[in-house]
Amino acid sequence: MVSFVCGIFGCLCDGAPQVILDGLKRLEYRGYDSVGVAVINNNKIALEKDKGRIDQFIGGLDETRLYGEVGVGHTRWATHGAPCKENAHPHLDCTKTIAVVHNGVLENFLQLREELARKGHHFTSNTDTEVIPHMIEEGMKAGLPLKEAVVQATKSIKGSMACIIIGTSEPNKMICVRRESPLVIGVGPKGAYCASDIPALLPFTKRVLIMQDDTIATLERGRVNLEEIGGGAVEPQFSNVTWDLKMAEKSGYPHFMIKEIYDQPVAIRDTLKVPETFLDRAADLLNDKIYLSGSGTSYHACLSTSYMMSRLLGIDVRPVLSSEFNEAVSDLQGSTVVAVSQSGETADTLSAVKYAKGKGAKILGITNTLGSSITVLSNAYICTQSGPEIGVAATKTFLTQLTALDLLTLRVGLKKGRISEGDYRSMSQQMNRLPRLIEETLGRCEKVKELALKYSTRRNAFFLARGINVATAMEGALKLKEISYIHAEGYPAGESKHGPISLVERDFLCVFIAPRDATRGRVIGNIMEMKARGAEIFSIITEGDEELKEVSNEFFEVPEAPDLLYPMLCTVPLQVFAYHVANFRGLDPDKPRNLAKSVTVL
Ligand code: AGP
Ligand code: GLU
Repeated sequence: MVSFVCGIFGCLCDGAPQVILDGLKRLEYRGYDSVGVAVINNNKIALEKDKGRIDQFIGGLDETRLYGEVGVGHTRWATHGAPCKENAHPHLDCTKTIAVVHNGVLENFLQLREELARKGHHFTSNTDTEVIPHMIEEGMKAGLPLKEAVVQATKSIKGSMACIIIGTSEPNKMICVRRESPLVIGVGPKGAYCASDIPALLPFTKRVLIMQDDTIATLERGRVNLEEIGGGAVEPQFSNVTWDLKMAEKSGYPHFMIKEIYDQPVAIRDTLKVPETFLDRAADLLNDKIYLSGSGTSYHACLSTSYMMSRLLGIDVRPVLSSEFNEAVSDLQGSTVVAVSQSGETADTLSAVKYAKGKGAKILGITNTLGSSITVLSNAYICTQSGPEIGVAATKTFLTQLTALDLLTLRVGLKKGRISEGDYRSMSQQMNRLPRLIEETLGRCEKVKELALKYSTRRNAFFLARGINVATAMEGALKLKEISYIHAEGYPAGESKHGPISLVERDFLCVFIAPRDATRGRVIGNIMEMKARGAEIFSIITEGDEELKEVSNEFFEVPEAPDLLYPMLCTVPLQVFAYHVANFRGLDPDKPRNLAKSVTVL
């Protein structure tokens, strides 16, 4: 499973700084907010870094400082610590003899930072990453060589980390660590290279090695030594890349959207790592007067959460479309508005937030983009850990929004005594099963492609469900209409008889989200209503539900799971369905007509 993370690059070759910048330029497509380079010359580390774009960064570089034959570079997608010069990578230790670039999300950095500070370490950033060089420094102070110090540090650090480390103690070496986040090594006639993924290596070599999880590599010019972090040699398995650059940027997937759909287990796993202290800060903002506001997919996350909060907390919260907020809501005194926006720049949502603040509301932001406007306007925020989402249609950012909002709901329930300790622990464990269950669901999606071909010529579709999966149905309809241009409508199944059912005629496609939850029985009734009028029934069901299979023309089985997880699990086949329908209709799923990734106009 390859996660979308931003760009790290390292090389051992003549003219290292220029090679690094060339490599980082090839990682730009993935989205980033800061850039930095560190090289070793005259047995010192020369470091340049800043917030902003690579081209602007290059324009301001002091070429006289930046020269050498070993160096590292980074394009940062901030997860901890807003985008700014101090938080950009590379990060150094106190002695400024170790430089580290990192992709990933560390879990125990707060505790490590405290321990290191007690030992006299000074930090210059508020990132999670900066604990890494200081942990390595501790090992070297105890007499360990660089690589062994890296191994010791890695064993104490929890979380996803693809890292490249250089040190003045051994300036002809690069140490590369891979745990969860991806890392690829390249060897060529002019040197050795390491990068987050293959596009960055292609100008220098096509001979690559994709590092396995929990391994560490020591690179020297002409030599690569690989071993398990827990000890034991690993036989390097190099291969020759046949991809061109465009294919390489998507790691072999034909489009960013399908790559990001398959990236969801890692994105959710990284989002599950949000520290409980961050959740507590967010939970403390929430009283019993809560509005949830967002646009498009983010609104669907709000709608889904309103059901979840009602069910788990026994409080009625109000989901409101951002574009309607100012007209729909007036008494906001003493309330909290949970503003959901993956970009953090959606004009409708920012407008709703400013209006709510003006009326005395507190704001809790849920976003995928650190440093975005919504984080500035919020009293507190939770950052989902999807990494950049390139496809215009939201996929992994939706599932990580639901993940973060569910974690928040559980935490609020525990703190307010509405969820017992035992239930909190049990539901938290259920949440930790989600990455694996999503992987399992994705593993079944070949069938969805066949159904997409079958239904790709339809002109209309209803997406129907009851309860929390009404939001899932609306999201499935949005995915289909926005990238395949089929008119698809998601709404409560119980609403059909109040009008919409008049549209239903023979073969009218009705997609039902009908997992084995409390609404299942009544949904079956709604399916029968539609069948009686000749509708074509495609149901998303819990595996083994023979009764639902009987009443459906086609079905897709998600794994048996706790109710808490069905909204996320049932969304996955709907994402894949929309993607393949668009493809079969000869459309580009990554760039649907008339749409922008972030709608920054009202
Ligand atoms: C969803 O697939 C669309 N890309 C769109 O509806 C999007 O969800 C909406 O514009 C909100 O964007 P935001 O999450 O960045 O605020
Ligand atoms: N978590 C690190 C930070 O926020 C690394 C982010 C990344 O992968 O770019 O700086």
